[in-house]
Amino acid sequence: MKTKILNSRQLKEAGKLIKLGGLVVFPTETVYGIGANALNAKAIKKIFNVKGRPLDNPLIVHIANKNQIDLIAEVKKEKREIINNLVSRFWPGPLTMVLEKKDIVPTEVTAGLKTVAIRMPNSKIALGLIENAGVPIAAPSANISGKVSGTCFKHVFSDFNGKVEAIIRSKRCQIGLESSVIDLTTERPALLRPGGLAFEELRKELPDLILYNKKVEKAKSPGMKYRHYSPDAKIILFENRQEEIINYYLDLKKSGKRVKIVYPSKIKNFSRKLFHILRRYDQQNIDYILILAIDEKGIGLAVMDRLRRAAFKIIK
Ligand code: TXA
Ligand code: MG
Repeated sequence: MKTKILNSRQLKEAGKLIKLGGLVVFPTETVYGIGANALNAKAIKKIFNVKGRPLDNPLIVHIANKNQIDLIAEVKKEKREIINNLVSRFWPGPLTMVLEKKDIVPTEVTAGLKTVAIRMPNSKIALGLIENAGVPIAAPSANISGKVSGTCFKHVFSDFNGKVEAIIRSKRCQIGLESSVIDLTTERPALLRPGGLAFEELRKELPDLILYNKKVEKAKSPGMKYRHYSPDAKIILFENRQEEIINYYLDLKKSGKRVKIVYPSKIKNFSRKLFHILRRYDQQNIDYILILAIDEKGIGLAVMDRLRRAAFKIIK
């Protein structure tokens, strides 16, 4: 397939491709997404094929207007106010809400679940694309399943050129990590996936929000059970005994390995660059990446979640 490379002035064309059942890779403020018409089951199946994504891992539906919530989700009366408050405080932005789904959403999107994940991205291009398509857009992160999410044009081009109808070219994603996913269908709201919006910020609006506990309810958010974010290089994450990083480095070097050390400094900067760094080191055929753990405050919670799931070995 010949993939069209489009820019931010060609959203009409991109929207039309979505409407016709095609796949379009597009930027958001978190990571790039690979999108299809959320109401077209056939188009959705193509996303799973192209990504090699397990069929039991549901997609996030992206909307451009808060009225589209009621098109795809059943909002219970008692939840209306909470949802409105979250929308006005955090949307457009890196917050995904899991709500009860309506029948109009094909089961392929939600992997058979009775719930649907919804997000309004804070990106002019993404919003313009959805508006031009005239339908909500289901989109997982733009990466081959199990690999690191794409955060810049170069990386999504290398994964998807020739496999999708179009890729919209833009700058590096601002946040660089995926959205925070919260479940609002349970008695107490739960954070299913930490992401670009900090747990502490969410708590200001949802004081009873709990951190989803993997051990209690396995695979509530199916994506969380898969090994993820795994670059080809082996990540060794130093949660404790951080002083040993230098010995590891020297030993690996001595045995002829290509090794990089990552010292996270400014956390905002680091979280934005993390996926980018991992992808770049893969291109350089690095064997080992040694990384120091960071505090799980603010976006640090999401960074540590991704690092632990990407790690080949964790030093505790
Ligand atoms: O920032 C983001 O969220 C990006 C951009 C493109 O918006 N998208 C993204 O999608 O990260 P994906 O597919 O890589 O991750 C979606 C996560 C998965 O962990 C999935 O299991 C979960 O959301 N999810 C989707 N629908 C769900 C549902 N109905 N209930 C629980 N979890 C759900
Ligand atoms: Mg993903």
